[in-house]
Amino acid sequence: MIIAIDGPAASGKGTLGKRLADHYGYHHLDTGLLYRAVAAQVLDEAGMVDDPESAIAAAQNLRIERLDPVQLGRPEIAEAASRVAAMPALRAALVAVQRAFAAKKPGVVLDGRDIGTVICPDAEVKIFLVADPEVRARRRAAQLGAHDAEAFARILDDIRRRDERDIHRAAAPLRQADDARLLDTTALDIEAAFRAAVDIVDERR
Ligand code: C5P
Repeated sequence: MIIAIDGPAASGKGTLGKRLADHYGYHHLDTGLLYRAVAAQVLDEAGMVDDPESAIAAAQNLRIERLDPVQLGRPEIAEAASRVAAMPALRAALVAVQRAFAAKKPGVVLDGRDIGTVICPDAEVKIFLVADPEVRARRRAAQLGAHDAEAFARILDDIRRRDERDIHRAAAPLRQADDARLLDTTALDIEAAFRAAVDIVDERR
């Protein structure tokens, strides 16, 4: 069983993906971490974020069992990740590792932007997770312990810019797969979003 969760930045995909994976005893991969790890390595080596060769070289060194969400959580890494993610050659280089993960038994949860559309088009369950940008920014600010108005404005700006880039890029743009269920968590807390997602999965099991 493959559960694909896609959606815009800070929509709670990672948290929901982990909860679902724990609930069903499945493996979980936050695919955003792959793009973040590539971006982090390019930045570390003072490489140019818009150079496909640096990005592909970084992708070849990836160890998916060693991705550290805390280290990769920084806003400048997120921004660089969305730039490297627009490169078709880098996306192509990351397909095999994601599909190999998706074949794990007894099941997997993958979250990202193109899981239901490109990586696992045959996933049994597809959820497209959305929430208003302000609500997403508020949740991300709380997560980062950022309580001032300036930090909130910066986070909101970052979310909007990344969404814009992810939606309008030519390669695997962010969009809801035709057979994905829309889950809007604007008015839901994590617990309610989790229960709604479990209902969607259980309907298919
Ligand atoms: O999900 P997260 O915010 O960690 O992703 C960072 C960036 O990686 C996104 O802004 C997006 O550009 C890219 N990404 C992607 N496809 C995925 C997962 C993430 O393009 N499947």
